[in-house]
Amino acid sequence: MWKTRGKTDEEEVDYFHSTPIKRWSIGLVKFVSFLVTLMAGVVLGLSLSTNFSRYYNLQTELFFPRTMYMANCDKDCLSMKSFLGPTHLMHGMTDEELFWRASLVPKMEEYPFERVPKVAFLFLTRGPLPFKPLWERFFMGHKGLYSIYIHSIPDYKLNVTEDSVFYSRQIPSEEVFWGSITLVDAEKRLLANALLDFSNERFVLLSESCVPVYNFPSVYEYLINSAHSFVESYDEDSPQGRGRYSQNMAPEIQEYQWMKGSEWFELNRELAVNIVADYKYYSIFRKYCKPSCYPDEHYIPTYLNMFHGALNANRSVTWVDWSRGGPHPARYGDPNITVGFIQAIRNNATFCMYNSRPTPICFLFARKFAPSALVPLLDMASTVMGF
Ligand SMILES: *[C@@H]1O[C@H](CO)[C@@H](O)[C@H](O)[C@H]1NC(C)=O
Ligand SMILES: *[C@@H]1O[C@H](CO)[C@@H](O)[C@H](O)[C@H]1NC(C)=O
Ligand SMILES: *[C@@H]1O[C@H](CO)[C@@H](O)[C@H](O)[C@H]1NC(C)=O
Ligand SMILES: *[C@@H]1O[C@H](CO)[C@@H](O)[C@H](O)[C@H]1NC(C)=O
Repeated sequence: MWKTRGKTDEEEVDYFHSTPIKRWSIGLVKFVSFLVTLMAGVVLGLSLSTNFSRYYNLQTELFFPRTMYMANCDKDCLSMKSFLGPTHLMHGMTDEELFWRASLVPKMEEYPFERVPKVAFLFLTRGPLPFKPLWERFFMGHKGLYSIYIHSIPDYKLNVTEDSVFYSRQIPSEEVFWGSITLVDAEKRLLANALLDFSNERFVLLSESCVPVYNFPSVYEYLINSAHSFVESYDEDSPQGRGRYSQNMAPEIQEYQWMKGSEWFELNRELAVNIVADYKYYSIFRKYCKPSCYPDEHYIPTYLNMFHGALNANRSVTWVDWSRGGPHPARYGDPNITVGFIQAIRNNATFCMYNSRPTPICFLFARKFAPSALVPLLDMASTVMGF
């Protein structure tokens, strides 16, 4: 059967070769193949031209990326805004990651934006802010010149309305135990979070029992224009001073370098970066400044004395009353708040050094105040404190 079929094919081929119909067919075939070639040419031409334009576009993309000009940068694109100052303070960084990032310092001296220096107010708290209304009055009208950061106990949610300056200003916080290194950790955490905002220039540590005793413009001028930072630092030859030094800290830290001071610091950006970046001396304190050593009263004063003494005024701008002795300072409530008392904190005729000149203004803030002091303080804020 196959054979028969093959024979017929051969015959047919032969037939096409030898009959006049064959010639006509050849013309048809030529016409069809011409058409096919033409169509193929058109199709090829079209496809080549699209390919070419696609190729050409690809080349232009390389040199002038379209995404650069056209992408919608709401989500993932790099932006200066979020780099220069995070809009949301909550983040998922560990302390190690945060401190690393916060210690990055620009090499260029000029900023590619108009930098208005700000004062960062770092609130180290446990829970509510009893003096919130006083602080809100203090900050009113000075937006852009300050930033607020709150370290509270973990999971504590500060209940403030959206129009408050304290709204959404809590930072990721850890548990803090009085007199332990965790207090220093919290201070560094506050500093590091505030350093992420490149406009923050001065950093003040405050607690929920602190109040301002001058108005915002005075505080801002005083701090921004100061050549020194305000960290109390003194040598005390007593069990509560040098007595807390441990020989295990040598040779890195010598006894003569050991200093004491109030934890309520005020630091400029350079010192804040150095403190956040220090791991070496911090580790020695964590290891040997215990028990009954109180790292928060020694670490920063000692560290600054060792490396940055010339940048420190060696005094605090936060007034506190230790005159009664004991482990805690005096606390002032409603019956103790008088105009004379507040005036004496503002200016008690004692002179302090400011930019190497004497000034009667030594303190900008004061502690410790009980919540009951709020009403009398609000009453005299405008007449005595100027806000
Ligand atoms: C938050 O404060 C408002 C107003 O003072 C109050 O009504 C509300 O109950 C508070 N919420 C919580 C969770 O404490
Ligand atoms: C603060 O103390 C340091 C020593 O640690 C000293 O060098 C510096 O001059 C003092 N600062 C002022 C303003 O006196
Ligand atoms: C505050 O006033 C009360 C009542 O007069 C007094 O007992 C207390 O000692 C005063 N506190 C301070 C720190 O002066
Ligand atoms: C003024 O304040 C300083 C620091 O608190 C204190 O040492 C001094 O005794 C006060 N002077 C007067 C006259 O109250």
